[in-house]
Amino acid sequence: MIKLHDLYFKPFISEQEIDTAVQNMVDKIANDLGDEVPVFVGIMNGSFMLVSDFVKKYPKACEVTFIKLASYEGVKSTDDIQRLIGLTQDLTGRTVVILEDIIDTGNTLDEVHRIFKNENVKQLLIATLFYKPEAYNKDFKLHYVGMEIPNKFIVGYGLDYDGLGRDLPSVYQLKTTQHMTNIVLFGPPGAGKGTQATFLKEKYDLIHISTGDVFRYNIKNETALGMLAKSYMDKGELVPDQVTIDMLNKEVEKNADANGFIFDGFPRTNAQAKALDELMDKTDSQINAMVALEVDDEVLVTRLLERGKTSGRTDDADEGIIRNRIKEYYNKTAILKDYYAEQNKYFGVDGVGSIEEITVRLSTVIDKL
Ligand code: IMP
Ligand code: MG
Repeated sequence: MIKLHDLYFKPFISEQEIDTAVQNMVDKIANDLGDEVPVFVGIMNGSFMLVSDFVKKYPKACEVTFIKLASYEGVKSTDDIQRLIGLTQDLTGRTVVILEDIIDTGNTLDEVHRIFKNENVKQLLIATLFYKPEAYNKDFKLHYVGMEIPNKFIVGYGLDYDGLGRDLPSVYQLKTTQHMTNIVLFGPPGAGKGTQATFLKEKYDLIHISTGDVFRYNIKNETALGMLAKSYMDKGELVPDQVTIDMLNKEVEKNADANGFIFDGFPRTNAQAKALDELMDKTDSQINAMVALEVDDEVLVTRLLERGKTSGRTDDADEGIIRNRIKEYYNKTAILKDYYAEQNKYFGVDGVGSIEEITVRLSTVIDKL
């Protein structure tokens, strides 16, 4: 992923794919033109990289020149095409091949045809490396198209976003979801995860997804996935990762325009962490951090015993059971800590102090993501 100015872009077309598309255009054009010496006309600025690669591959004699037009503002095509540098040589009787980096609405092409209307060229052929059929609203024939692409803004290989990105050798596409903050919230029993999740979700406008809640919701509402999960639970078997992931997927899809998610109670295994990465990838985003509340065992034991006095939870009443739950937690989560630490995404936060103090510590981490 790359950031240009304020926007995020993801890899879209590799150097190799571009090279193949350029080569195919060269082969077709060279074949069609026979012994004719064409004049290739690049439309600046965007086409400079294409023209350079194209003429290096062109197997026969040719001429190269440029005209300079401008139509784009930011990520939107405008109707108002400016002719910055026009034709500087007589092209009467010549075969002209326009080399465009990209054809979007076709407005630029309109201007190109206007320029050539009175030039008395033998023929005017249009070649474009990229073409967005959904955006094109003109009738001019496109003689050679390197690659058809969806109607999304791209940068790289000559194409820019407000000046940046032209130098990139491959092509990147504007991300549909811009910047999400996706956090895996972790902490041993008694660390205060639930309390902090409530604050963080408010403060950052995030969706809190607790796997336990999602399970209960799906089972209660007898959704297909809920029934599937229940069938395993009734047999005393673990619900397969895929079923859980499918449920999470639905939750994420339901909140497609969220600022991000707090995942709570998931992932618990390496396989789940990988599945979660894939899920995030589908939304054009990623897990930014595993934030773990770190609390000393003795403090946890005291807190849970205290809670046990009023919560009525039997598992909070027995010190032996509490210690075992804490030990279990560390055994199970060590792998996940490593998984995220390897990607520099593990953030341990001191979980001892007042609720407000801990929220501030967590915010310090999240604000930097
Ligand atoms: P059109 O006039 O709408 O066909 O757009 C043509 C010009 O707009 C191209 O020559 C580019 O300079 C610019 N353009 C169109 N689509 C994109 C894009 O996805 N990324 C960057 N520039 C673009
Ligand atoms: Mg252009």
